[in-house]
Amino acid sequence: MKVIRKNKIIRSDPKENPNGTPLEKTLDIDLGTQIIPKERYTSKEFMEKEWETIWTKVWLLGCREDQIPDPGDYICTNIGRESVLIVRQRDGGFKAFHNVCMHRGNRLADEGLGHAEPFVCGYHGWKYDSDGSFADIPDIETFPQGKPPCNGLSELPCDTWASFVWFSLNVQVEPLEEYLGELIGHFEPYHFERMAMTRWVTAEWDCNWKASVDAFAESYHTAQTHPQLLWYLEDLDLQIDLYDRHSRYLVPFGLLSPRVESVGEIPPPLKAMLHSAGMDPASYEGSMNDIRVAVQQYKRETQIEQGKDFSELHDEQLTDDFNYLVFPNVTTNTHSDDLMLFRHRPHPDDPNKMFFDIWMFELIPEGEEWPPLPKHDFRPAGSSRSLGIVIDQDASNLATVQEGMNSAGFPGLWLSDQELRLRHFHKTISDYVGE
Ligand code: FES
Repeated sequence: MKVIRKNKIIRSDPKENPNGTPLEKTLDIDLGTQIIPKERYTSKEFMEKEWETIWTKVWLLGCREDQIPDPGDYICTNIGRESVLIVRQRDGGFKAFHNVCMHRGNRLADEGLGHAEPFVCGYHGWKYDSDGSFADIPDIETFPQGKPPCNGLSELPCDTWASFVWFSLNVQVEPLEEYLGELIGHFEPYHFERMAMTRWVTAEWDCNWKASVDAFAESYHTAQTHPQLLWYLEDLDLQIDLYDRHSRYLVPFGLLSPRVESVGEIPPPLKAMLHSAGMDPASYEGSMNDIRVAVQQYKRETQIEQGKDFSELHDEQLTDDFNYLVFPNVTTNTHSDDLMLFRHRPHPDDPNKMFFDIWMFELIPEGEEWPPLPKHDFRPAGSSRSLGIVIDQDASNLATVQEGMNSAGFPGLWLSDQELRLRHFHKTISDYVGE
C-alpha cells in the first residue's frame, strides 16, 4: 500500500458552538527527537521512581458512581502495590481508604465490588463503619494503650467528576478539577452520565503499563496491526493536541484511509456505520466521500426522535473518535453514542506485567431502560478468550514488544511525528520523575 491521496476532512466552525469541546489545534511544541530509553519500560529502578513520583502523587480513576449505588457499597481497586476501598456514604457521597486493617495490616476486601456495613476484618474481627471509623474492637480492654491514634481506616482524597469516582494516594494532592484541567471542558458536552456501563473486563498482560498506553495513543500502527480499520477511518492526517500533562488526537471516522484505494462500492465497515446511525445503506445515494458528513447530518436531524441530545456536540463529534490520554493511565475513545475507556494499571512489582481494564459505555436514549451493570470479567495472563478483534490485535503485539525491549539489541523507542503523543507522554513522565 502507498499513500495516494489526502482526505478532505470537513471540520466545524468552533464559533457555532463556543461552549462545546474545544476544536482548536494546540501550538506545536518542540519535544526533540531523542531516543526514549528502553529502561523506562523494563527496569525495576524506573518502576520504583514512577511509584514514588507519579502513582503516589496524581489523581487516579476508581470507578463509576453507579457501580456502588447504595450506602455501604464499595469497590476495591488495586493500583501497583496498593489496594484502595471506595465506599458509598450514607449522604450519597464517596470516601476512599487504604484497604488495610489498622490492627495488624490485614486486607479488608478482595478486588471487586461488595457491600459492607460494617467492614469486618477476617483475622481478629475489628469492625469499621462505612465512613471508615472504628465500629468495634473486640476485647478492647486488653489493649492497655487503648485504640490506635486515628479515627479508623486510613482515608485518601476522593472526588467525583462526570459520573466517575477518582481517588489519590497523595493526601496533599491538588483539587481534581485542577488536575484534569482543560479536559473538563472537553468531556462535559458528551454527558457521560447519560451512558450506561455495558462491559467491564480486566486482562493481565505481559507488558509494561506504558507499552499499553502507547498502543492506544498513536495511529501509526493502524495499517499494519488493524488493516480492517483502513476502510473506515483516517489514520494518517490526524490533529494532535498536547496539553499540560494530557493529550488527544482526533480521528475522523466515516471515510477511507488515504492508504487504500476506493473500490467504488461502499465497503462493509462504512455500511455498518450508516446502519448504526439509523440509515439504510442500501438506499444511500451519496458518494463515498460524503458518508461522514451525511451521517453527521442524519444524526443531527433525527436526534430528538432517537431520544438523544447532541446539542452540545460539534458535527464531527457525531462521527469521529476524540481520543484522549488522561495522564497517567486512562485512555478514551470518545464518541457521541459510546465511550470506550481503558485503564492501564501497573503491576505491584514487575515492570514486565500490567493490568488492562476495559470499561465500555453506551448512550441510553431518553426514556429507555438502562441495562443491568456488567459483571467483572477477569482474564488471567495467557487467556485465549477474545477481547474483541481490535484489542486482540493490539494485545498480540504487546507481549512480544516487551520481550524485545528486554533484548540487549534494543536501546529504546525511535519515534515518528505520528507518535508525538508518546513523546509528550514521556516528557510528562520526565517532569514527574525529575529527569
Ligand atoms: Fe484485622 Fe487483626 S488484622 S483484626
